Amino acid sequence: MLVYEGKAKRLYETEDEHVLLVEYKDSATAFNGVKKAEIDGKGQLNNEITSLIFQWLDQKGVKSHFIRKVSEREQLVKRVTILPVEVVLRNVVAGSMAKRLGLEEGTPLLSPIVEFYYKNDDLGDPIITEDHALLLEIASEEDLQFLREQALIVNQALQQLFSDIGVRLIDFKLEFGRDEQGSILLADEISPDTCRLWDKETNQKLDKDVFRRDLGNLTDVYQEILKRLRGEISHV
Ligand code: C5P
Repeated sequence: MLVYEGKAKRLYETEDEHVLLVEYKDSATAFNGVKKAEIDGKGQLNNEITSLIFQWLDQKGVKSHFIRKVSEREQLVKRVTILPVEVVLRNVVAGSMAKRLGLEEGTPLLSPIVEFYYKNDDLGDPIITEDHALLLEIASEEDLQFLREQALIVNQALQQLFSDIGVRLIDFKLEFGRDEQGSILLADEISPDTCRLWDKETNQKLDKDVFRRDLGNLTDVYQEILKRLRGEISHV
């Protein structure tokens, strides 16, 4: 039974009440759903890329909701209740941070910056402080500290992974969920939809900005990321 349909994924119940099936759709959306397109093959690419990254993170000690990939566009995940907060980590100025603070895109940050956004479509997912997150009862102080630490750990692991395949990890967004025992697990996806990835040599954008900014063919650059990741993570 379908339990949730988002912009890029559908979630179905399985025979096991603790496990959901995620189906990755071919839809691409940007600017809170204002720009939309169907892109053949995108779902399959994101399912493959996310699966590889979650398996790789697991080996680095980062636990997530991911169980296993079961078909070209489907994976099994642990059922969690998603926290209504997006955690963004930035290594280099880009996107909304460049706009908000009037900084030049591409400026490296001395140390990574963590931001929290309130997941609320009606409000356009506003950036929030930790005090706002407490006020909105999104998470406790301890949980927010945990989210920040997890984001930094994921960043270290992913920076290494992407650096080895000739890619700069500019920024990325994480989501987390709570399982029945109350533990917080990394959830959702990690893919070129949710990261900014620039080629180390050429600075070519290998992520969803290609779609957001009409810079070329999205599946070509996602395919390039998958090809490089497969070369690096051939054992999983
Ligand atoms: O747009 P902004 O610069 O805030 O995005 C920061 C990072 O978070 C980018 O890698 C972007 O792809 C990701 N993001 C996302 N989903 C959102 C907002 C941002 O995956 N709703």
